[in-house]
Amino acid sequence: MKTSPAAPTAHADRLLADATELLGRQLPPGYERALRTVPRHLFLPGRLWLRDGEGGYRPCDRSTDPDGWLTAAYSDIPLVTQFTDGLPSSSASMPSMVLRTLLLAGVGAAAGEAGPRRVLELGTGTGFNAALLCALLGDDAVSTVELDPLLAAQGERNLQTAGFAPVVSCGDAAAGWAPGAPYERVVATFSVDRVPTAWVEQTAAGGRIVTPWTSAWCRYGTLALTSGPDGTAHGRFHAFASFMPMQRPCQDTAVPATSPAQHRGMTSLSPWLVAGGDLDAEFHLGLAVPGASFAWDTSGEHAPVRLHIADDEGPSWAAVDYDGRSADRFTVIQAGPRLLWDEITAGYTHWETLGRPRIGQYRLRVNTAGDHTVKVETGRGRSGIITLAKPSP
Ligand SMILES: C[S@@+](CC[C@H](N)C(=O)[O-])C[C@H]1O[C@@H](n2cnc3c(N)ncnc32)[C@H](O)[C@@H]1O
Repeated sequence: MKTSPAAPTAHADRLLADATELLGRQLPPGYERALRTVPRHLFLPGRLWLRDGEGGYRPCDRSTDPDGWLTAAYSDIPLVTQFTDGLPSSSASMPSMVLRTLLLAGVGAAAGEAGPRRVLELGTGTGFNAALLCALLGDDAVSTVELDPLLAAQGERNLQTAGFAPVVSCGDAAAGWAPGAPYERVVATFSVDRVPTAWVEQTAAGGRIVTPWTSAWCRYGTLALTSGPDGTAHGRFHAFASFMPMQRPCQDTAVPATSPAQHRGMTSLSPWLVAGGDLDAEFHLGLAVPGASFAWDTSGEHAPVRLHIADDEGPSWAAVDYDGRSADRFTVIQAGPRLLWDEITAGYTHWETLGRPRIGQYRLRVNTAGDHTVKVETGRGRSGIITLAKPSP
């Protein structure tokens, strides 16, 4: 039994109650124990960044606001712990999301059964999730990989302070971590748009890979795959979580030059239908229209409201303007080799034809060559197949 410094009881009780309520189910006893054994405040830096309610973040410092800091530490919210180039680059994930992911991965022993013996966590961050894994399975079962050397070192220190000693390594989790393979569970704590082949290769047959999902259009969903004996993996998407995307070492952040405006026309498809928060539609579009991202422009510079669409890897772009009056006719401008609004329209029409499937109806198969094929199950005798293009090298 660990002798880590305990979480303050009242705070731990509240976090447990909040997380349980959000999950809508009683936690297995091992999970309750783990949440009490792992004091979240020991994993957090002195400055946290909390959502400010206006789309940004505000700092919360332990030195000037110790009560607010401790309350935040035991709230069921994600806490941003680091920014890079103005964007959050590491966080202590929302505890209920962490627990939901671990439950989906089947981490922790069911009554009378042994839990998985080797688990790889990807994205150590603060070390909190790795500590929960250690509390559930024992230190020897857990390896964790972090890209950022400073975070990896701090995460390891946090784990030691709390009394845990998994293997912490620093590296690009896209390569998994071969020395500890094969794993029975691989659990990512950042989102991906493709499952790296190393993760499939390093997962034992029958093992599970669980990872948050993202696309350029929509960061949403969690993918749970089971590894087959033939080196493939298959499974489905689940309707929860929005995690920061996987970073790559020396990532090229150059923005492609944009084409001059070319086509002008009208559309009856409302931009709010494709980018207004319908996560099922947006999830589908993320698969169907690779590399397309969007941003709303309410500055009034071009139109009262403009949906701006960009090709993240090329010069194409599109804009859909709402003139403030007509809700069924919108001006469309398209530019570049890809007619992005036409692709979005075709993707949305396909989604409607399939009967507006929900994210839970999408299954993914990854073959030994790393090809990703998504099958949409409509339950009405129709199914859609989407082959995800290989990512550009
Ligand atoms: C949401 S945070 C992780 C939360 C963490 N598991 C915890 O309990 O605090 C995501 C982490 O993934 C790391 N990360 C992103 N891309 C990575 C990569 N390619 N390899 C390893 N770590 C990566 C980030 O640096 C960040 O610390």
